[in-house]
Formats: sequence, structure tokens, C-alpha cells
Amino acid sequence: MENDIRVLITKKKVEEKIQQMADRINADYQGKQLHLIGVLRGSVFFVCELAKRLTIPVTIDFMSVASYGDGTQSGGVVHMIKDLEDPLEGKEVLLVEDIIDSGRTLYYLMKLLKERQPASLKLAALLDKPERRVRPVKVDYTGFEIPDEFVVGYGLDYAQKYRNLPFIGVVEDV
Ligand code: IMP
Ligand code: MG
Repeated sequence: MENDIRVLITKKKVEEKIQQMADRINADYQGKQLHLIGVLRGSVFFVCELAKRLTIPVTIDFMSVASYGDGTQSGGVVHMIKDLEDPLEGKEVLLVEDIIDSGRTLYYLMKLLKERQPASLKLAALLDKPERRVRPVKVDYTGFEIPDEFVVGYGLDYAQKYRNLPFIGVVEDV
């Protein structure tokens, strides 16, 4: 069954924002090499669009975690499903996430990655719902702050659907 989806942020706006984020990252890491970490599956589209716009040398790794809950709420207990393939020690690491909601997933991930002793660890998130935060998380590069609505597209899903939408949309009938 299809859902009613209203456009919240157009493809053009998302792409302009990713370019601005890339410009800042290129400037901040000038002369350095950056190790990007994408969190499967939602951040894949964002990582690719961001990485294509980076002019500094970049490596990319992926991990997968699950935070149990129902379709639109994350649960609080975060489990590792797939770990990184490469060590982080001594690397300039940028964790790339699609969205920060309660902050539980990123709070857990940042703590876990910090223990692996990267030279630096920063966080980029395409979307942020600050109203929903229950765990403190410092975001170094934020794309858009959005209201407390359930969004899809650009990697974000509703029951695994709509990740491939080239814009950010609100599911009206959840
Ligand atoms: P948190 O742990 O509550 O911050 O949740 C983070 C994860 O929940 C994200 O990586 C998404 O997978 C999912 N999520 C949170 N809000 C949304 C949304 O509006 N649409 C789709 N997925 C979401
Ligand atoms: Mg999800």
C-alpha cells in the first residue's frame, strides 16, 4: 500500500545543503585525510552525495546498528549488526548519519567509536529533530533542523520503503 507523502525539502535544496556541508568539511580538514563512516542503511545516499563533493582524500567504511522499536519510534536499546572493517586508531573520523531523533543511536555509536582512539571524531547529520532529543549528542555538521514529523527519502525509510525518493518527504498517514 502506498502512503501520502508531502515534499518537505526539495531535491535541489538537499543537494545545495550537501554542497555547503562539503565545502565546510573540505576547509576544516584541509591537508588531512578523512575517514567517513556511514551507518547502514539510512545514511548511504547522504554519504555518497557528500563523498562525491569532498576534494580532500577520503576513505569510507560502513557499520550497521539496530535500535529496536516500532515503525516510527526507536527503542533505546542499540545493537551492533555489522561492525566496521577497518580500525580507527589515529584516523580523522567523520561519522555520517541520516537523521538524529532521540539521539540514542548516535550517543551509543559515538561512545563506541571514541574507544577505538581515532585522532579526531566528528559527526555529520543531514537531518536533526532537536525537539525529540533524550540523549545529548553534539552535531558538528547539521544539514537541516526539522520539526517532529516522520520523514522519508534520501535514504530514510518507512517500513523499508521510500529510501530511494530523491527528496525529503513527510509521511502524512502514519
Ligand atoms: P534515534 O536513535 O532515536 O536518534 O534514531 C535514529 C534512527 O531512527 C535513524 O538513524 C533512523 O533510522 C530512524 N529515524 C528517526 N527518525 C526518523 C524519521 O523521521 N524517518 C525515518 N527514520 C527515522
Ligand atoms: Mg530506519
